[in-house]
Amino acid sequence: MARVFVTRQLPGTALERLAAEHEVEVWPGDMPPPPQELRARVAGADGLLSLLTDHIDAELLAAAPKLRAIANYAIGFDNVDVEAVRARGIPVGVTPDVLTDATADLAWALLLAAARRLVEARQDVLDGKWRTWEPQGWLGADVHGATLAVIGAGRIGRAVAQRATGFEMEVVMVDLGDDLHAALRRPDFVSLHAPLTPETRHLIDAAALAVMKPTAILVNTARGPIVDQVALAAALREGRLAAAALDVTDPEPLPPDDPLLEAPNLIVVPHIASATRTARAAMADRAVDNLRAALAGEPMPYPAPLA
Ligand code: DGY
Repeated sequence: MARVFVTRQLPGTALERLAAEHEVEVWPGDMPPPPQELRARVAGADGLLSLLTDHIDAELLAAAPKLRAIANYAIGFDNVDVEAVRARGIPVGVTPDVLTDATADLAWALLLAAARRLVEARQDVLDGKWRTWEPQGWLGADVHGATLAVIGAGRIGRAVAQRATGFEMEVVMVDLGDDLHAALRRPDFVSLHAPLTPETRHLIDAAALAVMKPTAILVNTARGPIVDQVALAAALREGRLAAAALDVTDPEPLPPDDPLLEAPNLIVVPHIASATRTARAAMADRAVDNLRAALAGEPMPYPAPLA
């Protein structure tokens, strides 16, 4: 029986499966364990089930001499210091596939909401500004038949592209390494689906925003730091970009007084792309499958591509 620390209560029944085999401690709080608390809890642990809000770095690993398996409850693992875990030879697991559709759906929800100004229109109804049917009121952008650039042609990017066929859109798949600026010139919508790495940090910077059409709409359900938010706010303020819809920001949570939130034509939601009941329970199953395998000395079924 191994000792496992789980940094938050998870939906579904996966943790019961884990507890049937191992001694499991679940952090009781709604907020992530503070770093010193996390270090204390992993001190005697063989396994760790972490969230994207937990920073797994060399300092944490040094405090966890017995740790031999980390299951991250996410498809992304930019909260994990890859060099540090590799140096210790600790396998890291992720939760692929089960959140692909939920994330692609949310990217589309954001795209449609931004194109058709749903948030603003709803707010106007609440504020009593719906006076009559207005021929020129709340005009938005056509989605049907428009051009969509999908940046990052992995599972989620492909699922977003697949949904675009229903809207008879022209889809441009952009792989990292392709000529990004050339790909950004024409699309009406740009949706980001790349992992956060040193190469993708601020991939969408002032120069990238400058080549996009002023009528274009940017959607980000990947990771906040992929977009330079100062440049994004300026582009929105100056009308060089029509709108942006973000599920992810830098930092998270975005403080209510962050200057980005003063930019016009901006939708921000709190990192909810995988937040369906089914996806979040299935993510817990994947994370537990990863831990059980590694603690039994077997390869994780869903390893993070650490190389
Ligand atoms: C992930 O899995 O990386 C998402 O950002 C949260 O589900």
